Amino acid sequence: MKVTVFGIGYVGLVQAAVLAEVGHDVVCVDVNAERVENLKNGIIPIYEPGLTPLVKSNYEAERLQFTTDAEFGVKHGKIQFIAVGTPPDEDGSADLQYVLAVAKTIATYMESPKIVVDKSTVPVGTADKVAECIAAVLKTRGVSLDFDVVSNPEFLKEGAAVADCQRPDRIVIGTDSAVAESKMRELYAPFNRNHEKLIVMDVRSAELTKYAANCMLATKISFMNEMANLAEKLGADIEKVRLGIGSDPRIGYHFIYPGCGYGGSCFPKDVQALVRTAEKVGYTPELLRSVEAVNGRQKEKLFSHLQSYFNGDLAGKRIALWGLSFKPNTDDMRDASSRVLMENLWAAGAIVQAYDPEAMNETQRIYGTRADLNLMGTKESALNGADALVVCTEWNAFKAPDFDLIKETLNHAVIFDGRNLYDPAILEAQGIAYYGIGRGRSVGA
Ligand code: NAD
Ligand code: UDX
Repeated sequence: MKVTVFGIGYVGLVQAAVLAEVGHDVVCVDVNAERVENLKNGIIPIYEPGLTPLVKSNYEAERLQFTTDAEFGVKHGKIQFIAVGTPPDEDGSADLQYVLAVAKTIATYMESPKIVVDKSTVPVGTADKVAECIAAVLKTRGVSLDFDVVSNPEFLKEGAAVADCQRPDRIVIGTDSAVAESKMRELYAPFNRNHEKLIVMDVRSAELTKYAANCMLATKISFMNEMANLAEKLGADIEKVRLGIGSDPRIGYHFIYPGCGYGGSCFPKDVQALVRTAEKVGYTPELLRSVEAVNGRQKEKLFSHLQSYFNGDLAGKRIALWGLSFKPNTDDMRDASSRVLMENLWAAGAIVQAYDPEAMNETQRIYGTRADLNLMGTKESALNGADALVVCTEWNAFKAPDFDLIKETLNHAVIFDGRNLYDPAILEAQGIAYYGIGRGRSVGA
């Protein structure tokens, strides 16, 4: 099938490459000319395991094209995906300007019936807005063409995006059009072979499904973080509690890892956006507001541990920081907990010596060169001359470090573990002070 994808970011690029791999003829359109040029030269804009060979091989096989030429893109695909960003606007609602700009572009150039697919995460009612926008432009052009607007939210996780798109656990299709449903079935047939994964529903339910999924996951995390904070005060170990409750299949082991807060391009903005959606329809979303508030507090946790440990005097202290990306296996720093920590440390006059396996360039791009940020080439060199070690992201490379070296190198033998990677008993035996998240021990105790 001929497919066009608007927006070559985490979602658009991965989806396009995966569709091309099964034989679809895919054109990707982006307004970012540098990104398009780089992709043509085999330079992939994001770090995502397995993505580079997939993009390169499909580009070489001419099943995947990159362009800034929107007219060419619109004329190419029967199916037109909208996979552009929906960042928060000033009040936290999803900003639809990029989505509606693509809708307008499609309507401006279309010369045959199209199926327009909202892949971006968009508030309930957006498909109607996209349809109104297309109809209005077609009217000014004086042409009459059929089109459908389908909601097809994306559930991929960064760091596992290729695998998630190749083997989705469900494919949600929101449409009331039999023609659109049949075309979407044809498109996704290669991913729907073993058992039925398509869940077809009305458009509004599909739009809400995406927010409900992300908000449910965010709720689990904030709940566990609240339990962790209680465990810390009560002298219990949240990691034991996690195992104790996860073994109940009604609760399960997934997404109950406490830590220094959830980040990324989805949970923070999507919880906020659903809160605003609820408020706009006159509903008070008590639970979602708390999920957001607990997460905001959790992102301050490591800094407050450090402040207590150093008796409020962080000026001139050097802090080794392992992990900058919002989760492992990505270079994405959007809403990463490390950013809250670094910005707090800088405000307190501390110097950060940071290392991340993939997010160093992104950190440099965001913060530029500054005297209180040293980006180090290895995790070991980040320890040199540092007063303490903080772990913010659970990269595999941090899971079994050389604790002797850590002890010898740090000025104070202390680790603040934002992801509960280490065993407190082992560190205690090594003579290293250890502060995790909710592990029965408060700083100073
Ligand atoms: P992104 O910021 O990585 O990429 C968006 C791309 O769209 C950019 O390359 C930008 O230049 C391009 N763009 C903007 N306006 C355009 C236009 N008019 N025409 C063509 N291209 C244009 O965004 P992302 O992380 O891929 O997210 C895209 C959407 O998918 C968002 O709504 C997000 O909430 C949702 N989503 C993201 C993830 C994720 O893990 N990142 C997962 C599920 C859903
Ligand atoms: C999320 C959803 O999982 C995915 O389905 C959706 O399409 C996009 O948003 P992503 O943001 O890529 O994916 O990563 P995810 O693995 O969900 O982690 C999000 C954040 O939650 C990370 O900061 C992670 O560290 C944190 N997290 C996750 C926890 O703190 N505890 C957990 O148990 C799981």
